[in-house]
Amino acid sequence: MEPRSFQLFPEAASNFAGQVDGLYAFLVLTSAFFSLIIAFFTVFFAIKYRRKDNTIPTPIDEHGIGGMILEITWSVIPLGLSMVMFGWGAVIFFTESRPPADAMNVYVTGKQWMWKIQHQEGAREINELHIPVDRDIRLTMTSEDVIHDFFVPAFRTKSDVLPGKYTTEWFRPTKIGAYHIFCAEYCGTKHSGMIGVVYVMSQADYNDWLAKGSGEGSMAEQGQALFNQLGCGNCHPSTVQRTNGRAPNLAGIYGTTVDLKDGSRVKVDEAYIRESVLNPEGRIVAGYDNIMPTFKGLMTEDGLLKLVEYVKSLGPANGAPMPAVPGTVDLNPKQTQLKAGGTAAQAGKK
Ligand code: CUA
Repeated sequence: MEPRSFQLFPEAASNFAGQVDGLYAFLVLTSAFFSLIIAFFTVFFAIKYRRKDNTIPTPIDEHGIGGMILEITWSVIPLGLSMVMFGWGAVIFFTESRPPADAMNVYVTGKQWMWKIQHQEGAREINELHIPVDRDIRLTMTSEDVIHDFFVPAFRTKSDVLPGKYTTEWFRPTKIGAYHIFCAEYCGTKHSGMIGVVYVMSQADYNDWLAKGSGEGSMAEQGQALFNQLGCGNCHPSTVQRTNGRAPNLAGIYGTTVDLKDGSRVKVDEAYIRESVLNPEGRIVAGYDNIMPTFKGLMTEDGLLKLVEYVKSLGPANGAPMPAVPGTVDLNPKQTQLKAGGTAAQAGKK
């Protein structure tokens, strides 16, 4: 299965393809319609009203037609057309910007000049992305060096891939096949070679492909190994909702909103976890001291993504109660504010 090598128009292989193509067709046809009309009348009037003698033509107003109606018409029609383009484009933009909550997560790291891809289950690939058909796929992406851009023309979606930040892109592939991946942001001499292939497979084929795996365990398991190896657990409890007073418990923390020392609040998402590893003194959870060393320079982007997956695996995203353990002592009352509605925290309080 190879992507088609030359096409005038990319295949339509995702949920967005029809929407984007519809808007594109509208733009092209509108432009073509007005271009042809203008070109036609330019030539037609040039011939019809060509200079035959020395009389000066009467301005349009003096014929009594009035310029007003004409001017309103040629203002209102283009305004209407451009608002249709704006509204239509905005709807597609917002849909493409909001991945569904239950989308399947795949991690992408851009690097001069390759795409490194990690699946939650542990499989890893380079310049290839295997995904099942008819599933919402969410890519969480970052770069190890410069700005890249992950573009799959057949899916009609693309997004910048930035160093030091996570960006996302989502789509639902609708057609089994192989499609091009391009880097769509100039990123150095081999930018044009930073290409790859998306393989959209049936769910059964995808399961077979996943089963071959990397033999290294899931991303969360690898993240746990890293967590242990780096000694994170010496300060961060990760099993039940309690605290030792040194650092926030990570169980169930993903997806919650925590109070910070400076009085503000932050949602614990991929970006905040990443930031807390690399720049722990930046936004400290209320009730804790700045005692964590930075892991900047010690962690690869791949490693960070594994840690993120591990923290995500530690508890439900919406803060459902963690099992309370008899004799659990809440050493830190601040921690009970961990989650508004405090289900997890209350469990620890009893
Ligand atoms: Cu990476 Cu262009």
